[in-house]
Amino acid sequence: MTQSVNPDAGRSLRVGVIGVGVMGSNHARVFAGLPGAELVGIADPDQRQGDFVARTLGCKAVGDVKDLLDLKVDAVTVAAPTHLHRDIALACIERGVHVMVEKPIASSVEEGREIIAAARRAGVTLMVGHVERFNPAVEAIKEALRNEDILSIAITRVGPFPPRMSNVGVVIDLAVHDIDLIRWFTDSEIVEVQPQLSSAVAEREDIALLQFRTASGVLAHINTNWLTPFKARNVTVATRGKYIMADLLTRQVTECFGFQPDGSYSMRHLSVGHAEPLRSELLGFLRAVRAGTPPPVTGEEGVASLEIATHCLSVRPWAAPKGETKGETKGETKSERQAPRVVAG
Ligand SMILES: NC(=O)c1ccc[n+]([C@@H]2O[C@H](COP(=O)([O-])OP(=O)(O)OC[C@H]3O[C@@H](n4cnc5c(N)ncnc54)[C@H](O)[C@@H]3O)[C@@H](O)[C@H]2O)c1
Repeated sequence: MTQSVNPDAGRSLRVGVIGVGVMGSNHARVFAGLPGAELVGIADPDQRQGDFVARTLGCKAVGDVKDLLDLKVDAVTVAAPTHLHRDIALACIERGVHVMVEKPIASSVEEGREIIAAARRAGVTLMVGHVERFNPAVEAIKEALRNEDILSIAITRVGPFPPRMSNVGVVIDLAVHDIDLIRWFTDSEIVEVQPQLSSAVAEREDIALLQFRTASGVLAHINTNWLTPFKARNVTVATRGKYIMADLLTRQVTECFGFQPDGSYSMRHLSVGHAEPLRSELLGFLRAVRAGTPPPVTGEEGVASLEIATHCLSVRPWAAPKGETKGETKGETKSERQAPRVVAG
């Protein structure tokens, strides 16, 4: 990313939020309380919702992006529905405004790349809202993994069907968080994808069991669905020297270590911070804007995670031919039959 150093580094940054539904109203709330930031306004075509958020936080409400940009904002969050991210982000970037775009970065990898290219040309900061990285429990896992040889990661992210209608399935909406975590924990790219998807109740996939292999050889697994009556977010990581277990909701992180030949081992709870993840995320964004340095989650990282999620949806489904599941398929050797046919690059 080529960026010029901000000559106004000392003054408060004028910020705005585009789309103040569930996620955007939280961005607006957090921005309103951040040191060094002034929440100037929010944009939302839903006038009732826009007025409510603006009145609560003491900023201006406008109906569209152009009117918000006319308020001379330095930086915005884009938290409108995902299919609008590209057009809204491009409009902001064109006016030289720094952009934090909610995850997933866009509806498609191509659109995500367009946003990255535009931000690079304009020399503005582009960050993607993978807020889970800022969950103190996730930060504690990352810290516990320092200098560890990771072997496998298993993540469960389940809950009830979201009350509002969504035009994406569970992979793009939920699994993309964990794809980002797997890439971040391992500092490695995912090179193989083996998905199992099903649409049990919803129009799009609402159950996904996803298996991955990273370039560094880590095996990872995501279990996600919208069929569980309660929310659960659990992570386990096995390394050569440790076994880490985390509940991302209660923020309890425990590690087993000191494995002995007789099967005994030690256990300890790790110290986990209390910061609000969204606050840490937005502080990181504004810090990057001020310093002209790469943000904590770059556009490229957002696209990389979206690309893997997209592979999960696009790989050719495969099932053993009926009646031949016990023996070998005619004309196929055993090793051919067992080879994963749904490997994504
Ligand atoms: N990081 C996370 O954990 C997380 C969680 C939830 C949602 N999200 C992401 O945030 C985005 C918004 O999701 P949500 O759940 O808040 O949706 P939502 O439906 O609750 O809110 C979207 C808001 O955008 C407004 N909007 C629609 N068209 C607009 C336009 N042209 N300009 C400005 N505003 C417009 C809507 O009126 C609505 O108020 C999505 O991209 C979603 O994937 C991220």
